[in-house]
Amino acid sequence: MTRPARARINLQALRHNFSRVRQAAPDSRSMAIIKANAYGHGTVEVARNLPGAHAFGVACMEEAIALREAGFDRRVVLLEGLFAADDISLINAYRLDVVVHHDCQIALLEQGCLNRPLDIWLKIDTGMNRLGFTPAHAASARQRLAGITGIGEVRLMTHFACADDLSSDYTRLQLGRFGEVAAQLPGECSLANSAGVLGWPESHADWVRPGVMLYGSSPLLGRRAAELDLRPVMTLTTRLIAVNSRRQGDPVGYSGDWVCPADTNIGVAAIGYGDGYPRHAPSGMPVLVNGKRVPLAGRVSMDMICLDLGTQPQAQVGDEVILWGDGLPVDEVAALADTISYELFCGVGRRVQFDYLD
Ligand SMILES: Cc1ncc(COP(=O)(O)O)c(C=O)c1O
Repeated sequence: MTRPARARINLQALRHNFSRVRQAAPDSRSMAIIKANAYGHGTVEVARNLPGAHAFGVACMEEAIALREAGFDRRVVLLEGLFAADDISLINAYRLDVVVHHDCQIALLEQGCLNRPLDIWLKIDTGMNRLGFTPAHAASARQRLAGITGIGEVRLMTHFACADDLSSDYTRLQLGRFGEVAAQLPGECSLANSAGVLGWPESHADWVRPGVMLYGSSPLLGRRAAELDLRPVMTLTTRLIAVNSRRQGDPVGYSGDWVCPADTNIGVAAIGYGDGYPRHAPSGMPVLVNGKRVPLAGRVSMDMICLDLGTQPQAQVGDEVILWGDGLPVDEVAALADTISYELFCGVGRRVQFDYLD
């Protein structure tokens, strides 16, 4: 038997989640955010199943080239823009859009040679305090770009820091700052991430940029994905490779800090932090065995986890174990492991086999 750790990718769920974007923001075009290997789901397979996306957002040249080499001719946007002068020939060759967030990138474009109209997404920092021109510098950056031969459309964009929290005023502050810049400068505008799409209709503007909602995770604090009609795309599964009876008081796993509270069966499932299951998942974390919740028992190892099968005494070697996905929301697992779904998705390791199901 090959090692049974697998990620099932439900392409129908992906397409459904994209339809939620269209439903929530029907008047906006959408840039599907598929950076980081489509949040760990597979760039090309995901892109193939988003025929309605008007553009794809990626973080680096390799991701953009993978899309072009797979035959996509839609708009592809490098979300961190160019990093070095060498990038310009690739941007030309692969017909990419770039985000411009810093004067040093404008300098690279001034020195480079563009062989076609290059569309720019000028990033305005409205409060994330990470990337972008301050609102006060937006006009001068725009003007400097206008002086470069070969510049095409210049769009304006910003990114929200707290849009997941519908009770926070910070998004309104960012919207206000962006509105002031957009009132002075021409061009299409893009603000909304997934939280903006579902929680802040006033942010939809010309282009929305959904990421995590496409993969079926809730972008809003305190709202479950199912309530938002989002469906899990990735289901991480494995199987039991051992079931052993243990006595009350037996310590289980590294450091022995989980001790059997009663005589029980301990199931060993073939998945661990080497596959991207979070090492900090605490004892008690639910996993599904044959569709029923059972708790993690003891520390996560590199290749294995132990499960207390006390409530599932009939469970046996070969039975399916679900770590997150169908029947067990990734957001619940992430919260218990003190992380976010994004990190869990991106962390799924190379040795996990991916199965794409339609
Ligand atoms: C610039 C930009 N836009 C949109 C997104 C999508 O965000 P989310 O996955 O929260 O929808 C990201 C992701 O981090 C991003 O960096």
